[in-house]
Amino acid sequence: MCGIVGYLGRNKASEILVEGLSKLEYRGYDSAGIAVLDEGKIDVNKCKGRLANLESKISNKTVKGSLGIGHTRWATHGEPSDVNSHPHTNEAGTIAVVHNGIIENYIELREWLISEGYNFKSQTDTEVIPHLVDYYYNGDLLDAFIKATKKLSGSYAIGIICKDEPNKLIAVRKDSPLIVGVGEEESFIASDIPAILNHTRDIYLLEDNEFVIIDNNGIKILNSDKEEIKKEIFHVTWDANSAEKGGYDHFMLKEIHEQPKAVKDTLAGRITLGEKVKLDDVKISKEELESINRVYIVACGTAYNAGVVGKSILEKTIKLPVETDIASEFRYREPIIDKNTLMIVLSQSGETADTLAAIRLAKENNARVLAITNVVGSSIAREADDVLYTWAGPEIAVASTKAYVTQIITLYIVALYIAEMKGTMTEEEINEIKEGLLGLSDKIATIFKYEDEIKAIAESNKDKEDMYYLGRGLDYAVAMEGSLKTKEISYIHSEAYAAGELKHGTIALIEEGTPVIALATQENLFEKTVSNVREVSTRGAKVLGIAMEGHDTIEKVVDNVIYIPRVSPILAPVLSVVPLQLFSYHIAKARGCDIDKPRNLAKAVTVE
Ligand code: F6R
Repeated sequence: MCGIVGYLGRNKASEILVEGLSKLEYRGYDSAGIAVLDEGKIDVNKCKGRLANLESKISNKTVKGSLGIGHTRWATHGEPSDVNSHPHTNEAGTIAVVHNGIIENYIELREWLISEGYNFKSQTDTEVIPHLVDYYYNGDLLDAFIKATKKLSGSYAIGIICKDEPNKLIAVRKDSPLIVGVGEEESFIASDIPAILNHTRDIYLLEDNEFVIIDNNGIKILNSDKEEIKKEIFHVTWDANSAEKGGYDHFMLKEIHEQPKAVKDTLAGRITLGEKVKLDDVKISKEELESINRVYIVACGTAYNAGVVGKSILEKTIKLPVETDIASEFRYREPIIDKNTLMIVLSQSGETADTLAAIRLAKENNARVLAITNVVGSSIAREADDVLYTWAGPEIAVASTKAYVTQIITLYIVALYIAEMKGTMTEEEINEIKEGLLGLSDKIATIFKYEDEIKAIAESNKDKEDMYYLGRGLDYAVAMEGSLKTKEISYIHSEAYAAGELKHGTIALIEEGTPVIALATQENLFEKTVSNVREVSTRGAKVLGIAMEGHDTIEKVVDNVIYIPRVSPILAPVLSVVPLQLFSYHIAKARGCDIDKPRNLAKAVTVE
């Protein structure tokens, strides 16, 4: 995830910025840069790769200035490269900007600025910001910056400096975190607390649409009408380690809680009510889509589980046969692939060897390949014909959570895109799903209120050796992911079963006290699932049910139930997986497991 640091004080800004950025390295990044106001001009140094590259770039320079901004970039728009790294400047190099988040309307703004005579160097969404501020600049940076931000839609935390206002650092936030550090005759901005902990523990937490102006008179926080806002100082008591995890005990838990934002970001600019789906990087034409008669979804592990959800979503919406395959199996089973095949590959890392091999096989046979990945410029992104990025931000815990959820979100987006092009759904049906999608972020957040209850249930199961997850249809697909989460982080043996299939053998394993997690969110399958749950509960299973609000008849056959908010059944997987992630996390924690780095597992599997 991108990181921002900004400084105005008495010391050498370049050193403080680089040190601050080093404290944000844990968030993941692909390039780094700083801009320092030095001897009347803004000196920008930035490059692709590790922070060490930036350090060696500036090591033989004497940048003495004490005002500057720095950034570590996690690419979203444009591959990792020197030119795409932040800070970005206006053409004259008098205004420099760092930005976290996504500017949804950057294409329109870019076109408009080009028509006004501006030239762009990078592929980023960020570069519109310094040009916009330049457009409005008339000797008052704050004024120009406020006008520029009024033109932006999307999420942002932005830090800005200007050569002509040499003792001023301005920043703003909207839907992307930003804090202000209060030091002794020095002030800071940062996207996260660890960046400034070595200098101060006193911070202001900015709210959306609040601007901070740091100058020689101190710190002022204003709204967009330039009215001053009084804020309490928040004194940080966390140590550096827990500050990195935002106060959570593990990255996995932090990432579970980041899912509302990850979902919102992934939808941003792509799904808007009353507008057609927008996909910048997907170039497949209507004619090419018309010729597709078969779809494969290919992936590994959790991404494969997202693909199983994807099969149902696509079949229901684009009315074509869809097969989901495990990448390591796919190419050895002689699949039928030709120019009328669309292959969708899912991969958080974009580097999974088996998934990459499947792409190569598909391309040798003239299929069209669409990659859904979280890493811009990864091998899978480069080899596919089209790429759609999940904007989950880097996932640090080995066990995937927010990447899974955003992969499913991206599959809905693809499904609606194809359905709109091919006319396989009515406008009303499409709008209903779009509306549902836009409401998911808030709905995920409401599930967290059950966390203590889920934790207590998890703790009561910590000594079990086997567990079963049941569901039908989309619930079965989510059960597979719940089961994988449980085994990989808690080391409890777990299996997912299609609820109706259990009685054909596996039910023999159910005995007094066997834990069963039963998903029953699908309206049309609810009664049938309840009957299957009764089959296990009457044999002694201890059942945790996951159902939609209003389906309280499930309480007759389960021991505990967690309700997810009401949503169209096709969208339920994005909600129902959340209690399963929390359940697995809390069991693993109760068992004392190394949650963020489970034994024998790696984050990117680059061997076949
Ligand atoms: C499990 C998990 C793995 C990955 C799998 C594929 O939590 O993260 O199962 O999903 O190794 O990795 P990617 O998505 O990087 O291709």
